[in-house]
Amino acid sequence: VSPDRTEAAGSETVPHGAVFTQSAALLAQIFEFAPDAKVLVDGGGRILKANALAGTMFGYGRDELIGQHIEILIPQRFLSRHVAYRQGYMATPRTRPMGAGVELFARRKDGTEFPVDIMLSPLETDEGMLALAVVRDVTDRKRAEAETRAAREMYLKELHHRVKNNLQVISSLLFLQSTYTKDPSTLEILKDSQNRVKSIALIHEKLYRSSELTKIDFAEYVRDLVTDLFRTYGVDQGAVVVRMQIEHMTLEIDTAIPCGLIINELVSNVLKHAFPGGRTGHVVIDLAPVGPKEFTLTIQDDGVGLPKDYDWRTSTSLGLKLVTDLTRQLDGRLEVDVTNGTQFRITFREVLYKERN
Ligand SMILES: Nc1ncnc2c1ncn2[C@@H]1O[C@H](COP(=O)(O)OP(=O)(O)O)[C@@H](O)[C@H]1O
Ligand SMILES: [Mg+2]
Repeated sequence: VSPDRTEAAGSETVPHGAVFTQSAALLAQIFEFAPDAKVLVDGGGRILKANALAGTMFGYGRDELIGQHIEILIPQRFLSRHVAYRQGYMATPRTRPMGAGVELFARRKDGTEFPVDIMLSPLETDEGMLALAVVRDVTDRKRAEAETRAAREMYLKELHHRVKNNLQVISSLLFLQSTYTKDPSTLEILKDSQNRVKSIALIHEKLYRSSELTKIDFAEYVRDLVTDLFRTYGVDQGAVVVRMQIEHMTLEIDTAIPCGLIINELVSNVLKHAFPGGRTGHVVIDLAPVGPKEFTLTIQDDGVGLPKDYDWRTSTSLGLKLVTDLTRQLDGRLEVDVTNGTQFRITFREVLYKERN
């Protein structure tokens, strides 16, 4: 590239050793034999030099590449982008990976494609600015990554399935236990516990079926949960009419579980307490985003309302205590309005699922 002083002195007479490390012969060997394909391109995108590996990698005879346009190595669909990209590179040249963060593909002579990593370095020469592209075929690495991803997904799926099954066993045990008592308050405790376990089991069931594995379709979850609660409390959907306004949203597991439990408590309360003695009425379940990753959940009934002088803030009963604790866990805010029936309104943020390896 640039004339080498030792070379100019005559390589024949230069002994091997210290001087050799500076010789053009060494550089030529590095270019030729160090791993990775190397292609030297001028400012107009013409290939000036390519090593043997470049020829093999792209399916060309070694000298076939020289004088060609670099764009013959680029898949058709990236061509126009590549021309602009190359011009941009020549305007602000520095050593860096090409298209950092995006998946790059190269094209062989026969038109087939393969994934590559490319490192670009500018070379200042007498012939002007040249760019050296060091190209690595990453087919094997990509395949290994895809296999790891698939294995992890399988594992997560299996895990959710097992958690769901185990929770179902616990729920069944609670049910069996309840057949051994006639005491109404014990029965109620067992039923509430069973519903709490089921509301979590349902999340794992959805996760197991979800393509994303850490997120679920929350509207669908709430619909199933509420239907299930009507069934377990034996409330007719004609007596208490539900209106659900849940925007389509997916929630991460760490948000979905506390949020699902809160809905379980509040809807159970409506079914148990709001419409005593055959009273009929309505319940509205509303969940909507109010900001980036921020949501408001409202559960409003037009029933009898909370008992007079009842202070939900200092309530020690488990249901409402769970609601306040879980709201705190979601970094949320809870407001209760009892002017007409009972309204619980919770504003919370989505907790992002953290990768735990
Ligand atoms: N939607 C509602 N309508 C009327 N009363 C309610 C409602 N939600 C809660 N309550 C009252 O608040 C009390 C405490 O609720 P909670 O902590 O869930 O305990 P539990 O449901 O086990 O009684 C209930 O016993 C009930 O008197
Ligand atoms: Mg309750």
